Parts: sequence; C-alpha cells; structure tokens
Amino acid sequence: MLFNIVTIFPNLLSSPLEEGILRKAKEEGHIEVNIVDLRQYAPDKHSTTDDRPFGGGEGMLMKAEPLSSAIKDIKKQGSGKVIFLSPQGRPYTQRVAEELSREESLTLVCGRYEGVDERFCEKYVDDEISLGDFILTGGELAALMVVDSVTRILPGVLGCTESVTKDTFSRNLLKHPQYTRPRVFEDMEVPEVLLSGDHKAIEEYRFITSVERTLTKRPRMLKQERFDKQEKKLLKKHGLFDRIVALQDVD
Ligand SMILES: C[S@@+](CC[C@H](N)C(=O)[O-])C[C@H]1O[C@@H](n2cnc3c(N)ncnc32)[C@H](O)[C@@H]1O
Repeated sequence: MLFNIVTIFPNLLSSPLEEGILRKAKEEGHIEVNIVDLRQYAPDKHSTTDDRPFGGGEGMLMKAEPLSSAIKDIKKQGSGKVIFLSPQGRPYTQRVAEELSREESLTLVCGRYEGVDERFCEKYVDDEISLGDFILTGGELAALMVVDSVTRILPGVLGCTESVTKDTFSRNLLKHPQYTRPRVFEDMEVPEVLLSGDHKAIEEYRFITSVERTLTKRPRMLKQERFDKQEKKLLKKHGLFDRIVALQDVD
C-alpha cells in the first residue's frame, strides 16, 4: 500500500517510520511511504505556503495553490483517495482503519496554522478524518496514527493474524486482561486458569473477562455486539446475560 503524506514538516514524520512494525512493513514491501515536502510546491523563492485570512482574524492559513500543485503531481503516480486530516472530519475508528486498509494508495494532507483555504478542500479532498475532539498543532501526528493503524492490519504485516482479529475493537469488546512472567509480581498472582493448560477453560476465562471489562469500562460498546449461541450460554452461566440484554434494550 502506498501512503503519500503532504506536509511542511517532513522531519516530523521520518523517525516514527524508522522503528518497529512500520519499519519492518516498509522493508518487507507491505507499505511505501512517500513524504511530500509542500514547500517544494511554493510559487515564490521564500517557499511561502501560508497567508493571512481574508476578512481578518487570528493566525495564518495554508494557501490553496501549493497544496493543489502537490496533489496534481502525486496524482501522476496514483494518489488514491485524498484525505485531509481535520478536527472537523468524520471520527476515526477501527472500522475506518479497516475501510482504508482496502485501498491501494492514500494521500494524507496535513494542515497547519489555522487550517487551509476552503477552496482546496472543495476541489481536491475526498474525505476528512478527525482523530478526536481535540486540536493538534498540525495534521502530522494524525497522519502517522492513520498510517500506523492501517499498516498493522494489512495482511502479512503482523506475524500472528490472531492478534489482529482478537484486538480490542475487532468486535465491540475490549480485550481481556493479559499477563506475562513472573507468575507472582508484588504478591499478585497470575489467574490460575491461565496456567492450567486447559484451552477451553482459558478461552472461557478470556471471553468472560473481556465482556466484564467492557461492561465496566465502556458499556455503550456492548449495545451493538451480537453473541452466538455458545457465547450466550456462557454469559448466562456467569450471570452477565441479563445485564447485556438490559443495556441493549435501552435506546
Ligand atoms: C491548529 S489546527 C487548526 C484548527 C482549526 N482552526 C479549527 O478550529 O478547526 C491545524 C491543523 O491540525 C490538524 N488537526 C488538528 N486537530 C486535529 C484532529 N483532531 N484530527 C485531525 N487533524 C487535526 C488539521 O490538519 C488542522 O488543519
């Protein structure tokens, strides 16, 4: 998958792409990341990419021309959808990451200052994505979050596909609690069942703790979750079924 990232701060992006799974994904050819320095598309010798807003007001705006020139250039090699990272965009979730992971290429445009000239968005942007209801100083961290979350679900990127299908948000459930060595840490023991070698009992423990955890921390997530016959049986056995039905009944 090809990611084009348009930014005035290319150095901000390079280091996170040189570590861990993103680095490996690049080396193994699962992803290619093309960082496009917007200043190269500035029309003047001072590399100006911003200007004052018409009508007055605080701050500066990113000019439309350098952005449109960059996009036209990227389109020659295949830009895919052009996504503007913006606090006004649709909320980014695991579902959106899954949707984007099916694209062959994406172009992520990072805003700065007070934002960008509206005419650029009208003509060149296919989608706007927000990483949450807060204001970042620029779109670069948001773009990295999109690249990171999309990359890890691309087929073949993680050695173990189970970790993707069993992640928090792969269903409307939070992941069960997890433990590693030592068996006893500051007087706290690992739950006995995880040491039992009984795979069925371990699965049951993980499913039930996952539901319990979701009920405690993010009960609204359960409103959309559907359980199969076997799972319903387990929920009844552990006294959770009625609590979930009550949640799902409430609008
Ligand atoms: C300081 S912000 C501009 C905010 C703008 N004045 C507003 O009120 O909507 C600069 C840039 O950071 C990026 N940005 C800020 N918050 C974001 C968020 N929650 N999600 C995605 N991008 C964000 C956008 O690219 C935005 O154009």
